[in-house]
Amino acid sequence: MAGLLGTVALLLLLLTTTAATSPADALLAWKVSLGDPTALSSWSKARPVCSSWLGVDCNAAGLVTSLSLGSLGLIGTLDALDAAAALPALAVLDLSDNMLTGSIPASLSRLRSLATLHLGDNGFNGSIPPQLGHLSGLVALFLYNNHLVGSIPAELSGLVSLEHLDLSENNLSGPIPSSLGILKQLTWLGLRFNNLTGTIPREIAGMMALKGLAVRDNNLEGELPATITSLRNLQYLALSDNNFTGTIPPDLGKGLNLTVVSLGHNSFSGELPQSLCDGLKLQNFTVHRNNFSGRLPSCLKNCTALLRVLLEGNQFTGDISEVFGVHPNLEYLDVSGNQLTGNLSSPDWSQCTNLTRLHMNDNRISGNIHETFCRLTSLQDLDLSNNHLTGELPNCWWEFKLMVAMDLSKNRFSGELPISTSLGLKLQSLRLANNNFLGVFPSVIETCKSLVILDLGNNMFLGDIPSWVGTSVPLLTVLSLPSNNFSGVVPPELSQLSNLQVMDLSNNSFSGEIRMDMPNHNCSLESFHIAGNGFMGAFPPFLQGCNSLATLDIGNNQFFGGIPKWIGSQLPSLKILRLRSNNFTGEIPTDLSSLSQLQLLDMANNSLTGSIPVAFSNLNSMRHDLPPSVQPSRIFHFDRVNIYWKGREQTFWNSVQLITGIDLSCNRLTENIPDELTYLKGLRFLNLSRNDLSGIIPERIGGLELLEFLDLSCNELSGGIPPSISNLPSLSMLNLSNNHLQGHIPNGNQLQTLADPSIYGNNLGLCGFPLSACEPTLGQGAGDHKELRDLGLCYSVIIGIVFGFWLWFGALFFLEQWRLCFLRCVDGLGIKIVVRS
Ligand SMILES: *[C@@H]1O[C@H](CO)[C@@H](O)[C@H](O)[C@H]1NC(C)=O
Ligand SMILES: *[C@@H]1O[C@H](CO)[C@@H](O)[C@H](O)[C@H]1NC(C)=O
Ligand SMILES: *[C@@H]1O[C@H](CO)[C@@H](O)[C@H](O)[C@H]1NC(C)=O
Ligand SMILES: *[C@@H]1O[C@H](CO)[C@@H](O)[C@H](O)[C@H]1NC(C)=O
Ligand SMILES: *[C@@H]1O[C@H](CO)[C@@H](O)[C@H](O)[C@H]1NC(C)=O
Ligand SMILES: *[C@@H]1O[C@H](CO)[C@@H](O)[C@H](O)[C@H]1NC(C)=O
Ligand SMILES: *[C@@H]1O[C@H](CO)[C@@H](O)[C@H](O)[C@H]1NC(C)=O
Ligand SMILES: *[C@@H]1O[C@H](CO)[C@@H](O)[C@H](O)[C@H]1NC(C)=O
Ligand SMILES: *[C@@H]1O[C@H](CO)[C@@H](O)[C@H](O)[C@H]1NC(C)=O
Ligand SMILES: *[C@@H]1O[C@H](CO)[C@@H](O)[C@H](O)[C@H]1NC(C)=O
Ligand SMILES: *[C@@H]1O[C@H](CO)[C@@H](O)[C@H](O)[C@H]1NC(C)=O
Ligand SMILES: *[C@@H]1O[C@H](CO)[C@@H](O)[C@H](O)[C@H]1NC(C)=O
Repeated sequence: MAGLLGTVALLLLLLTTTAATSPADALLAWKVSLGDPTALSSWSKARPVCSSWLGVDCNAAGLVTSLSLGSLGLIGTLDALDAAAALPALAVLDLSDNMLTGSIPASLSRLRSLATLHLGDNGFNGSIPPQLGHLSGLVALFLYNNHLVGSIPAELSGLVSLEHLDLSENNLSGPIPSSLGILKQLTWLGLRFNNLTGTIPREIAGMMALKGLAVRDNNLEGELPATITSLRNLQYLALSDNNFTGTIPPDLGKGLNLTVVSLGHNSFSGELPQSLCDGLKLQNFTVHRNNFSGRLPSCLKNCTALLRVLLEGNQFTGDISEVFGVHPNLEYLDVSGNQLTGNLSSPDWSQCTNLTRLHMNDNRISGNIHETFCRLTSLQDLDLSNNHLTGELPNCWWEFKLMVAMDLSKNRFSGELPISTSLGLKLQSLRLANNNFLGVFPSVIETCKSLVILDLGNNMFLGDIPSWVGTSVPLLTVLSLPSNNFSGVVPPELSQLSNLQVMDLSNNSFSGEIRMDMPNHNCSLESFHIAGNGFMGAFPPFLQGCNSLATLDIGNNQFFGGIPKWIGSQLPSLKILRLRSNNFTGEIPTDLSSLSQLQLLDMANNSLTGSIPVAFSNLNSMRHDLPPSVQPSRIFHFDRVNIYWKGREQTFWNSVQLITGIDLSCNRLTENIPDELTYLKGLRFLNLSRNDLSGIIPERIGGLELLEFLDLSCNELSGGIPPSISNLPSLSMLNLSNNHLQGHIPNGNQLQTLADPSIYGNNLGLCGFPLSACEPTLGQGAGDHKELRDLGLCYSVIIGIVFGFWLWFGALFFLEQWRLCFLRCVDGLGIKIVVRS
């Protein structure tokens, strides 16, 4: 009975199978499921399958052996194609570069003749069926660029004839199965751009025929197995963008013809094997962003086929001339951020005529640049910054017609720039900062119509800014000229630079008023630095439309008049407002409190009067513990600001979080310190010294928990020192001298570390550490400074210097604390006085 049933079942199965085994019917059924694509219009019942159907080939017996349907725009799945049943002799199945989706049918494993299975560049999803491992005759398996997930089946070790395996660009996870080591015929293992983890199995040595190991862009880790050196046919080794560690096996490359070695973006360390380029066939050599050290393989010098060399971000040492020679094909060379020495005096460099990118920045390369360097006429991107290069640029320097970006900053180049009327139109970025260049504003700029960034800072340029800057370089976005000796007035034509975002003219000898006139709609300025010049006049009115302005530093000039109210409403993006050391008068506008992004307010050393606006407590960005980190300007490197920080001027770069603080010292501010200032919990410094502030120190001053630097000296403050001050955990500099404070100095905590008694000096009567212990009755009679103040000392420093200087000075020696007040004020005005003590 059971036997009979079984036979019936078998018969039924045979019947249904036979019904579907006609290749034509099976293929047509699939064609229908694909929506009858016109690409397959030759597939019709009326025509013979083997001779006239597109992409179909048969053998002598009339069995379909090949289905090659690559790049036909097919959309659909393989669900309706019962290939195993209909095409039992199929040897080639190529459906690459279509839009096929769904899973890869496990039934394909029944195609026992299959030699090539190419499903690459489609949208297949799901995982790789382990059954595919049964295809023992398969030579090539291409599944790259699909949406496959899951791990690589260990069963693929059954593909004993396999020569090409490419599973790149999927989302495969898990390890590389060590069982694959058995694939002796495999020449190419492509697993790039997946999410594989674990190490490269030591069993890989079993892939005796392997020429290419491409596993870049995964999450592989660990050390390379030493057995990798037994792959005697290896030519292509791409391991970049993983998390490999350890050293490279010492003999890797010995006796091999490696053409591609790509190890970048890992955590490799140690020295590279000298044997790596033994075969002198290297084309792409990229080992950047690791922790390699030591010398580069010297055979690199003789690898004339080199195309692309990326070594940046390691700790390589040695002389570049030892490894770089005649590389006529070299296109990209980046050795930046190492410790390489040597010079560019070798004429060999001129042979690298295909070089488009040369980055050697941040090394220790020295010497002059050889004339023949100008023959690198393909150069588009040259970065030699931060080395020890010296001398003048060769006269032919501007003949790089294709140059887009040139950075020579932070070297010791000197002399005037070569004159040229024909620097390429392509130059977009020219950085020459921090050298010893001389001469007037370089005329070569006038021909650079595409220039976006010009940085000439920290050189010895002099003379006027020519008015053509406003018209000849219309795309100019960064004009950075600080710390030169440029002079004259700012040409009004600069107003026409409607893309200008960064303008830095600080520390030059400019003078006069700034007569720029930017209509509201065309002020793009984000950063405006003109500190340390001789500018005068009212607060520059043209800034009124600059609503992207984040940094405004006009300190150390001779601006005068009131601080305009409109700053509060017209410059909503301001983060840094530095008006220090000018001659601004009048009251501080309350409207400034609406600058919700303001982090640094420095108005020290002016002649401001009135009180500190209570509304400052609304300065939103100062109310938070952690100010948002400052975004560097969209296009320029970093912004910077000088801050009077703990007694001396220091430059802060906004690459880190900007310091938050207020400095209103050396003005004529009166009335008391608003209690509400203690809401500004982000403050890291507060300097209100040398004013006429009276009343008490706010009781809640201890709430400013981030405060590191507090100076309230030289005022008329009275009462006791609030005990909460001892709660300031980070306070490392405090000055309360020259007030009318009295009573006990609070003790404990951080305050105990501030042991210099002078920070409390010259008050009405303070006692306790670090002054003398408190007596039952408090001392009196510290009123001396009052008389000095009444003589107008703090405010009349300049007059003091001119007229009664020595008179004042004599008095100052009497009272040490007063001398301190005096000198700091004067310092702020940029005048140095040497005191012999
Ligand atoms: C695969 O893709 C098909 C069609 O896009 C979809 O219906 C199916 O759910 C997907 N399967 C998996 C396992 O993601
Ligand atoms: C890859 O797969 C993981 C889970 O295995 C999933 O979280 C991730 O989103 C996938 N990524 C892509 C690009 O499909
Ligand atoms: C890799 O896998 C992790 C964890 O499964 C997942 O978060 C991540 O998105 C995956 N990356 C890619 C590129 O698929
Ligand atoms: C790389 O490996 C190191 C240590 O082996 C680990 O600390 C680090 O998080 C890893 N990085 C990534 C991106 O997996
Ligand atoms: C390397 O190339 C040379 C000549 O191009 C050839 O003679 C040599 O056999 C090759 N070596 C290997 C290991 O392929
Ligand atoms: C070398 O790198 C370039 C640029 O990435 C690439 O186009 C080229 O195909 C690579 N050469 C080899 C032999 O892989
Ligand atoms: C890089 O290597 C040096 C020694 O060459 C070692 O001191 C340093 O810790 C390493 N750095 C990292 C991030 O592994
Ligand atoms: C480079 O080639 C020159 C000339 O063929 C030879 O003298 C020199 O030893 C070679 N250098 C290296 C490091 O292979
Ligand atoms: C330089 O590049 C050009 C064009 O890409 C190429 O034809 C040539 O072979 C390369 N090598 C030399 C030495 O010019
Ligand atoms: C440049 O370097 C080469 C090789 O190290 C050296 O022989 C030569 O003297 C150096 N030239 C100068 C001017 O320093
Ligand atoms: C800067 O130039 C002015 C003239 O414009 C000159 O008087 C002054 O000495 C120069 N300063 C320096 C440091 O060269
Ligand atoms: C500052 O301005 C006041 C009033 O406008 C004027 O008397 C004084 O001379 C100015 N001081 C300086 C240094 O320019």
